[in-house]
Amino acid sequence: MADLLLSALVSTVVGNLNTSALQEFGVAWGLGAELDKLKSTMSTIQSVLQDAEEKQWNSKAITDWLRKLKDVAYHADNVLDEFATEALMRKVEREKVESSKDVKVAGRIIHMSFNWNSPRAISLNEDLCKVRSLRTYLGTSYRNASLPFFLKQKYLRVLEFGFWVEEVPRSINNLKHLRYLDMSRSYIQVLPRSTTCLLNLQTLKLDHCEYLCELPKGMKHMKSLMHLGITGCDSLTRMPEGIGQLTCLQSLSLFIVGKGKGYQVSELKGLNLRNRLTIKELDNVRNSVEAKNANLIGKQNLHSLSLVWQSDNKSHVPDHVEDVLDGLQPHSNLKVLSIDGYHGSKIPAWIQDSVLCDLVEISLICWERCEHLPTLGKLPFLKVLNITGWHAVKYIGNEFHGDGAISFPSLKEFRLKKMRDLEEWGTMTGGESFPCLSTLDITHCPKLVEIPIIPSITNLTMRSNNAMLIRSVMNPTSLSSLVIEDMDHELTVLPDGLLQNHKMLKMLEISKMPNLMSLTNQLDNLSALKEFRLQNCDKIERLIFTTEFRHKELQQILLIV
Ligand SMILES: *[C@@H]1O[C@H](CO)[C@@H](O)[C@H](O)[C@H]1NC(C)=O
Ligand SMILES: *[C@@H]1O[C@H](CO)[C@@H](O)[C@H](O)[C@H]1NC(C)=O
Ligand SMILES: *[C@@H]1O[C@H](CO)[C@@H](O)[C@H](O)[C@H]1NC(C)=O
Ligand SMILES: *[C@@H]1O[C@H](CO)[C@@H](O)[C@H](O)[C@H]1NC(C)=O
Ligand SMILES: *[C@@H]1O[C@H](CO)[C@@H](O)[C@H](O)[C@H]1NC(C)=O
Ligand SMILES: *[C@@H]1O[C@H](CO)[C@@H](O)[C@H](O)[C@H]1NC(C)=O
Repeated sequence: MADLLLSALVSTVVGNLNTSALQEFGVAWGLGAELDKLKSTMSTIQSVLQDAEEKQWNSKAITDWLRKLKDVAYHADNVLDEFATEALMRKVEREKVESSKDVKVAGRIIHMSFNWNSPRAISLNEDLCKVRSLRTYLGTSYRNASLPFFLKQKYLRVLEFGFWVEEVPRSINNLKHLRYLDMSRSYIQVLPRSTTCLLNLQTLKLDHCEYLCELPKGMKHMKSLMHLGITGCDSLTRMPEGIGQLTCLQSLSLFIVGKGKGYQVSELKGLNLRNRLTIKELDNVRNSVEAKNANLIGKQNLHSLSLVWQSDNKSHVPDHVEDVLDGLQPHSNLKVLSIDGYHGSKIPAWIQDSVLCDLVEISLICWERCEHLPTLGKLPFLKVLNITGWHAVKYIGNEFHGDGAISFPSLKEFRLKKMRDLEEWGTMTGGESFPCLSTLDITHCPKLVEIPIIPSITNLTMRSNNAMLIRSVMNPTSLSSLVIEDMDHELTVLPDGLLQNHKMLKMLEISKMPNLMSLTNQLDNLSALKEFRLQNCDKIERLIFTTEFRHKELQQILLIV
């Protein structure tokens, strides 16, 4: 709908936009200290977007601004309707205005934006103070004094008030027509209950409001709500009651499971959620029936799912936890899956083999009681795999790879971390493994002494592992970056010829090897080296480098001793 409308509008207003002009225009969209181009029409938006896409602007300020513009365009369909039907092409005089004192209000102002980068503080002059016709306000301001002004704009559809806000007045409910409210990154701790009277609100963005500890009671009455952004609201401890009654809800970035009725995971049952969802405090799900009631399997538009258990009490593992995870099976369209803190010892069938056959990225963190890794090798599109904190796993073998001819056919990045008891890692017997693997990160594996030879690896990290593992560095000959960190506190010289094969190595980092005395002969063959970092290797003689390093390519040496 938004798309159609956007393309249907003729773009006339903005001609030859160049970067600085666009920026100037962008921040001053509507009104600002550098008020130069005040052309608040959708055709402008369209041409800006088109222009930006064609020219692929990459200045951060511009892309941020464009992103906001797009957000508004996509989220507030009704707003666009009104843009189209109202006096759309209203233009405000295009004169250079030095400060808002000089702004003459001719006709109605519908769209306003402040330039938060402006060196001059912005204040509303007498004329502007009388404005009551605003439909949209985008941007932020130094001055919180303008808040009362916005609260008088009873026709306001779109309001973004940025990070200076500490408290939202109760009179926010005067803005009955509000469709889009963005208070992301502000300092608010609570929202007044009156917010829940904004019955037309479709988008409420509170992302990264770090201090927000509670959402208002009665949010279940905000029936128009389609998007609730609460990503990065780390102080939030629970959801408002009855989120499940918001049947239009399409994006909900976070759900914190509670215990009582109206707070349980079953609130998610009827919601057709899209994009990403994180479910926290799964400890509060009591059995598989409750878990199944979340109906994750029915959420075919969900792209990324993160399941998080909170419990630190390792001595106490609830009996039902395995049934709970079993009941949380997502739809097979899922692309990204992360499961953190699962204390069961059984791996549910839906994680094994290729039940979720579209998965591209998996992260399985702190599965402390499982003795074997799940069979993931057959997933055809899996690109990124993070395995962390599986303390009970002693070996990795065929069970991980499965019985296909090629295991992990698409895997590019593999991170294996904090495997306290892992002693052995073998690839699949009688088949090919990891044909595309380029990034391998082995960290905190104190008992692992050998890794398989995987020729495709280009970026290798070895951090805080068993000292024996350092020799594995010799094998992959296509390395482009290599990090060796905290591998052997006693080591005074690297094993002979350790780096002799790495003619393509561009970046080498050696850190936290406190007794390493010299790198004599090690660096001779590194003819492609561009960047060399040596950190916290206290005993290395600095002087050695000036004579040893004569690589033409070398552009950066970083020494932190
Ligand atoms: C870009 O825009 C600025 C500000 O409007 C203008 O001064 C400048 O001449 C423009 N540059 C080009 C190359 O069009
Ligand atoms: C605006 O901020 C100042 C401090 O910066 C504060 O004293 C004042 O109460 C705030 N006003 C409103 C309306 O929030
Ligand atoms: C762990 O849970 C058990 C059973 O609920 C409880 O008795 C014990 O006190 C808990 N331990 C800690 C450290 O919370
Ligand atoms: C896997 O680890 C990388 C690096 O830490 C991270 O960027 C990525 O988001 C992780 N993947 C998931 C699904 O958590
Ligand atoms: C691998 O290392 C090269 C060279 O340091 C670097 O340019 C590249 O971004 C790295 N790739 C990944 C996936 O980290
Ligand atoms: C450099 O590489 C060649 C062959 O690849 C090898 O014979 C030689 O010993 C290496 N030099 C060092 C100092 O490792």
